[in-house]
Amino acid sequence: MPNAPPLRLAPSLLSADFADLAGAIRAAEAGGADSFHLDVMDGHFVPNLSFGPALVAAVRARTKLPLDVHLMIEDPLRFAEPFRKAGGDTLVFHIESGSDPVEVIRTVKKQGGAVGVALRPATPFALVEPLIDRVDQVLVMSVEPGFSGQRFLPEVLPKVAAARARLAKDGRAADVSIDGGVTPETAVAAARAGASFFVCGNSVYGGGAVAENLRRLRAAVEEGAKGAVR
Ligand code: DX5
Ligand code: ZN
Repeated sequence: MPNAPPLRLAPSLLSADFADLAGAIRAAEAGGADSFHLDVMDGHFVPNLSFGPALVAAVRARTKLPLDVHLMIEDPLRFAEPFRKAGGDTLVFHIESGSDPVEVIRTVKKQGGAVGVALRPATPFALVEPLIDRVDQVLVMSVEPGFSGQRFLPEVLPKVAAARARLAKDGRAADVSIDGGVTPETAVAAARAGASFFVCGNSVYGGGAVAENLRRLRAAVEEGAKGAVR
């Protein structure tokens, strides 16, 4: 189909061994990862802290794959420039954050980056719909943001379908991402609903061989996409 974006797997480094990120990066690259997802948390927007631009820069120095930076922070406008300068390719901000979304989009684009807008599980799609023609990615959270290893919330899938339908109507191939609790089991339904970008933390780094974990996830998203209206 002309407007179907490629299916991509983005391991989330939040679930990796922080003392061996270089090893985690190498293992995922060898297993065919398409991108890396970096979860930035400020202890205000979410009840957890993770890392800032310095770590994004350190990852940037170790891989040529695109870096997808998920800003779970109260003031994404203030930090757009530092995360772009650190090497983030796509900056994903939350619609529920305190920043003006149009300003965030404008600022990231001015810095030459791609931009995504994220929604918490309870946030309706209608809140981001007016912005959809200005963004490169809509990220639907399938857990409450803040921690990896939580259970997937299937009730968010209609938002994935709504975002994909709206993009298709506009003839656009932007990404619809699903983030939280993505496993070979839940990825099938997400792909079927129209997701194209799959953030995978525990299902990549939580145990077993990274390459085999990625192979199982790839098979699942390809299976789900066969039944998708994309
Ligand atoms: C949660 C983060 C996710 C998380 C995913 O707040 O946005 O990216 O790292 O981890 P899993 O796949 O284990 O739910
Ligand atoms: Zn994330």
